[in-house]
Amino acid sequence: MQKKYHIVTYGCQMNVHESEKIAGILHKMGYEETAEKENADIILFNTCCIRENAENHAFGNIGALKKLKKANPNLLIAVGGCMTQEKGKTDVLKKKFPFIDIMFGALNFEELERLIIKKQAQKKKVIEIREKEGEIVEGLKPFRTSYPNAWVNITYGCNNFCSYCIVPYVRGRERSRKMANIIAEVESLVAEGYKEITLLGQNVNSYGNDLNDGSNFATLLDKVASIEGKFRLRFMTSHPKDFTEEVVSVMKKHDKICKCVHLPVQAGSNRILSLMNRRYTREKYLEEVAFLRKALPQAEITTDIIVGFPTETEEDYLQTEDLVKTVGFASAFTFVYSKRQGTKAAEMEGQIDEATQKDRIMRLVALVNSLTREKSQKYIGKTVEILCEDYDEKKGLYLGRDEFGRMGYFSSKENKIGEFVNLKILSANGISLHGELTD
Ligand code: SAH
Ligand code: SF4
Ligand code: F3S
Repeated sequence: MQKKYHIVTYGCQMNVHESEKIAGILHKMGYEETAEKENADIILFNTCCIRENAENHAFGNIGALKKLKKANPNLLIAVGGCMTQEKGKTDVLKKKFPFIDIMFGALNFEELERLIIKKQAQKKKVIEIREKEGEIVEGLKPFRTSYPNAWVNITYGCNNFCSYCIVPYVRGRERSRKMANIIAEVESLVAEGYKEITLLGQNVNSYGNDLNDGSNFATLLDKVASIEGKFRLRFMTSHPKDFTEEVVSVMKKHDKICKCVHLPVQAGSNRILSLMNRRYTREKYLEEVAFLRKALPQAEITTDIIVGFPTETEEDYLQTEDLVKTVGFASAFTFVYSKRQGTKAAEMEGQIDEATQKDRIMRLVALVNSLTREKSQKYIGKTVEILCEDYDEKKGLYLGRDEFGRMGYFSSKENKIGEFVNLKILSANGISLHGELTD
């Protein structure tokens, strides 16, 4: 019987895509996927450590495997991702969960096949974490599970050291893939029938800085968007300190590029932005938004915001609210600041108490939701192009997203997954739209 794997993924899109690469390695080794942990021969956790609750989630789920491992001692349990890259974390994991067989890191997941074979040949657990980033590994074929969408890495790591963020410590310095490799990957995805390509990096706008061959993000975007075929092109994440007018003109040049930008602002107060080491001001951010909207009036902007950063006063918080209203974000991911060991902000005085953090996040979520709802209402009566990406069994409806990432549901007798369809919007429910096919 074929051996089976089950992967549990936490964290960002980059991790989701890395799980597809891990799945690719396992398929090459002859494993197949199972949705049930109980049937698996190997269970892998691809972890995240961006906030404490991401870690707690993983801890809870790893702990729950104790029984399964007892019932089936041949079951292999592997833990990788960003959490194992944290200083001292493998020791914590070893103590808490002695039944883990393999630990690997976000910087060496490509070695998984060797690590599994090594574990199968010995009783002792295998713990191999790479401390520093290595050369980019090309040629791993991901087992993609999100047709018609496909993710493509353009950079790995991050050099920004925002004072609250652990990513530069666990993902290493920024490395850019060679342009030719990215283009070849997108070309083959389009030839295979993928309809939406998302270019991924912690800060896509600094693509090419380390290549010293003149490549930059605007030229990469231009070249990828020039690939023949009908597909949508997205990119994330854009750091406001590096978002250039050149990128906006490439967006304008190509219909394929979705006119939406994820531009995390994090805070509305200049004092907090400076403490966060974001290297832009509120005014610079608003200028970029104005420039984008002038060049592309239909453009939508989404963002990430943190509340409760050390020393944040009510006045600072209100500046964030004010900025949210001024920009009119299409949607926003909102987070309570989480103290991460080893970062600059963890050492700062003036950590904010939980009650204040809770109060601010609740007010911000209410504000963001009301803006999103307002935008959804404006869709009613309009016809939008949706790329159908899935079927919701519970609702009995197909779903997909428009250019701006807004979810639309509809019913259809035929399978529409992977097709662009026109949807007349009849109603809007919070952030999602409901409509009927017009063709
Ligand atoms: N590279 C991207 C985002 C990576 S992490 C960027 O710079 O925009 C995604 C989001 O998590 C960040 O934008 C930030 O809003 C949030 N985040 C990161 N560290 C955090 C922390 N310590 N506490 C709370 N939120 C955090
Ligand atoms: Fe973290 Fe800042 Fe890098 Fe984003 S840009 S990953 S928030 S350090
Ligand atoms: Fe992503 Fe979490 Fe790592 S957000 S880069 S998986 S710490």
